[in-house]
Amino acid sequence: MATAAYQIEGAANEDGRGASIWDTFSHTPGKVLNGDTGDHACNHYHLWQSDLDLIKSLGVDAYRLSIAWPRLFPNGDLELNKTGLAFYEQLIDGCVARGIKVHVTLYHWDLPQALANDGGWANPKTASHFAHFAATVTKFLGDRIDAICTFNEPWCSSVLSHLLGIHAPGTKDLNTTLAVIHGQHRAHGLAVQAIRSEHPELPTGIVLNTQAIRPAGSSQADKDAVIRHHNFHNRMFLDPLFKGQYPPEVMEAIGVRMPKNWQNDMATICQPLDYWGVNYYTPEYVTNTDNNDAAYPATRGVLRENVARTDIGWEVDATALSEMLINLYNEYSLPPCFITENGAAYNQGVVDGVVDDQARIDYLQSHILAVQNAMSNHVPIRGYFAWSLMDNFEWAEGYTMRFGLVHVDYKTQKRTLKNSAHWYRDFLTERDMCHD
Ligand code: FCB
Repeated sequence: MATAAYQIEGAANEDGRGASIWDTFSHTPGKVLNGDTGDHACNHYHLWQSDLDLIKSLGVDAYRLSIAWPRLFPNGDLELNKTGLAFYEQLIDGCVARGIKVHVTLYHWDLPQALANDGGWANPKTASHFAHFAATVTKFLGDRIDAICTFNEPWCSSVLSHLLGIHAPGTKDLNTTLAVIHGQHRAHGLAVQAIRSEHPELPTGIVLNTQAIRPAGSSQADKDAVIRHHNFHNRMFLDPLFKGQYPPEVMEAIGVRMPKNWQNDMATICQPLDYWGVNYYTPEYVTNTDNNDAAYPATRGVLRENVARTDIGWEVDATALSEMLINLYNEYSLPPCFITENGAAYNQGVVDGVVDDQARIDYLQSHILAVQNAMSNHVPIRGYFAWSLMDNFEWAEGYTMRFGLVHVDYKTQKRTLKNSAHWYRDFLTERDMCHD
């Protein structure tokens, strides 16, 4: 099961937590559907004990959570808020006491606002502060956790949020985006070094949302668009991390727009990793952009007609997951991976105490099969996390999109197991029996 701090914790102004860019963004009219914010979310900050009991009751053996940087460092600087740290100490101890393994994400998008005011990820100083955050988490919590990752989906915290403007901070500028991509990669490298020096044995990685890209049609132009799309949206993340360079095709096209002296950081960025995480939801079909002046990769997504979609509009196709993994392992020398997120938005409510979300069961079942298929094709997958434990603040969609296996009534904070949660528990029990 997986969650992220801003999406579930609430208690935004409690115990010394500072503001993050998502507080600012969600409080800016027009940015998030219905003006929803994470101020209260699932109130997990106060309900964490019963939430952990819930995870345990489902037979889940590992929980992926994120640590809110602004709870530990409210101003983004070096001054530690001990109350914030104490929350995660008790939360992680609570997992350990219940026999649940803990996978920690350091950056699930909640950049301290104070750092954003000073240029955010485009300012190299942010990377040093991030490394300090990583060192602190490892120092105090590293002995009780099972894995740590630096970033969740750096594509989202750069391209989606600085080029497409959909996520915080919501800007639309290519030069800034390239500086942010690079700043985050450098922060990742520095954080890995910091983690290793505190705790060399702690499995350390990064989580990417690599896109499973397919051509919209059969033309050569569409096939070329797929290559360019892959170069920009996947290789700008994979190549520096695993090959120590940016894709030459991208640098040739827009390299002049990169931040100064980026070449000096490539060795720092390319750290050996113990694992990487893959978040997968849907395939992408692409073609050329309609805009002749568009910068590289000059592609756009195409929505196909008459295909199954979840309530958020994402096409359902489990085959694209195994295909993508097999292709990526052919293209790169990658460490083992975890599926760190996979799931579906279906918005059924509670009727007579029951949430009938058969579509989610079908989705999970077919995607777990796809994972097994990839494994039998030699993809080294070490684990699977469903997104998400419970319905939560779905970023720009606010509370309108429900990804949980557990339903949350946001007014009463009542949790109700959906049919998919019952199914998941039975699936895990049967699997355990097979293993015994
Ligand atoms: C991923 C995010 C996660 C969640 C899912 C639906 O991109 O990592 O927080 O919002 O999408």
